[in-house]
Amino acid sequence: MKVKNICCIGAGYVGGPTMAIIAQKSPEITVTVVDINAKRIAAWNDPDVNNIPIYEPGLAEVVAEARGRNLFFSTDVDAAIDAADMIFISVNTPTKTYGMGKGMAADLKYIELCARQIARIATTDKIVVEKSTLPVRTAEALKNILDNTGNGVNFQILSNPEFLAEGTAVTDLHKPDRVLIGGDLDTEAGREAIQALVDVYAHWVTEDNILTTNVWSSELSKLTANAFLAQRVSSINALSELCEVTGADIKEVSKAIGMDSRIGPKFLQASVGFGGSCFQKDILNLVYIAKSFGLEEVADYWEQVIIMNDHQKRRFAAKLVKTLYNTVSGKQIAMLGWAFKKDTNDTRESASIYVADYLLNEQASVVVYDPKVTEEQILADLDYLGTRSEAENRALIRVVNSAEAACDQAHAIAIMTEWDAFKDLDWNAIYSDMLKPAFLFDGRRLLDRKVLEEIGFDFYAIGS
Ligand code: UDX
Ligand code: UDX
Ligand code: ADP
Repeated sequence: MKVKNICCIGAGYVGGPTMAIIAQKSPEITVTVVDINAKRIAAWNDPDVNNIPIYEPGLAEVVAEARGRNLFFSTDVDAAIDAADMIFISVNTPTKTYGMGKGMAADLKYIELCARQIARIATTDKIVVEKSTLPVRTAEALKNILDNTGNGVNFQILSNPEFLAEGTAVTDLHKPDRVLIGGDLDTEAGREAIQALVDVYAHWVTEDNILTTNVWSSELSKLTANAFLAQRVSSINALSELCEVTGADIKEVSKAIGMDSRIGPKFLQASVGFGGSCFQKDILNLVYIAKSFGLEEVADYWEQVIIMNDHQKRRFAAKLVKTLYNTVSGKQIAMLGWAFKKDTNDTRESASIYVADYLLNEQASVVVYDPKVTEEQILADLDYLGTRSEAENRALIRVVNSAEAACDQAHAIAIMTEWDAFKDLDWNAIYSDMLKPAFLFDGRRLLDRKVLEEIGFDFYAIGS
């Protein structure tokens, strides 16, 4: 079976870029991305392609090429489901904030709503692909809902986890390390569905890089990949604290261990803590699954990755306060960067949110600059924590549109996101506009200590 019409439910950081690349590479397939968020869809359809809602290097060009040709964005979910022979579910699966599994389990309500909607609308056979990160055995739940409430049509469920990283989504999608497709290998219909999706990716990915597994292996591989990656960051961050007290330097240690081919050089960058929508959520999910099977040691092992990450964010903020003579009350602290990593406007679980919250509790006057994040988003992130009233957040925090403005008359600067542009700032000029002693806290190991100290900064960097 050849897929001719794809619908993707969810026009977010995963659905948007993934579908844009599928459309770019498969001109004969019509791809419609739908979302209930009308504002988001309007932004995807903005005549000026630079206004699409997601900032990703290279994405605007891909959208410009495919949009209106075979790539469409719409709020008409029903019509897109009806027309499609393959439906990707790419809606958000946040950690539950209520009830059983609160703070740990993934909230599957958006997934379930999608399944019920598909079941209601579909009048022809469909292949349903889960694209969001989901707990193991979600596909089974999906199948149950679809089979029991549908109009008697056949559904094949595939798991096709997305491994793209934000900030490099376009290159990751163009040249994936692997594409993973989980499905029902035991039946003819299952194998056909898998092959249909393989054929979509085969437009640009070599078949050697397309793995097919059973559904549960596919689902668990996604959680495991994210858990391993996050664990590397927590491991290096744990050692960064040890470096600070022993005189070793985490950059040197990272380099030395990374040259061991069994360890490898990537993902060993000490930082103020990992963020993003996936790592914490997926580990909590893994912990919840382990606990629900009574595997306490397994759960504790992975939970430690989160505990370490929380510690890293807190100790960075505490270090700043302690260095400024144990008080930042009324002092201006410039935070450079709010996104959870460079080259994205995504702020979910960004370390900046937690560091800012800590500093605001200490009554600091926080001034933020990020090249791609809006003031509206920054305030929404703080409000979402619920630590203080919206009015208080607005009284204490200021968002400005340049690094220079943030640093002017500041007591201290905290580098929160490793934006390349921060390397090339005129640090001499920034130094002269600050109060003295001028403190600089590099949470990303972005700057050269020697250069900054020569200018006159009191310089602290994670891990040395
Ligand atoms: C280790 C380090 O590899 C080496 O660099 C260091 O100099 C000394 O310690 P060694 O203990 O000799 O070397 O063997 P290694 O191959 O690392 O295995 C250690 C243990 O881990 C073995 O019991 C091995 O069976 C086990 N192991 C290793 C696994 O269970 N799974 C693996 O994937 C790898
Ligand atoms: C991650 C996975 O990499 C990706 O495969 C999966 O599909 C989704 O989750 P993402 O969260 O977009 O992607 O970005 P990633 O590059 O993994 O970074 C996550 C966080 O870890 C960021 O806050 C980043 O700054 C931090 N990080 C990463 C470090 O602190 N040090 C590192 O060495 C690497
Ligand atoms: P991700 O990083 O997983 O892509 P996002 O939050 O960026 O997560 O995107 C998920 C999108 O899914 C949101 O834009 C949200 O509005 C959309 N969404 C959630 N539930 C539904 C639904 N039932 N129908 C259509 N869109 C949905």
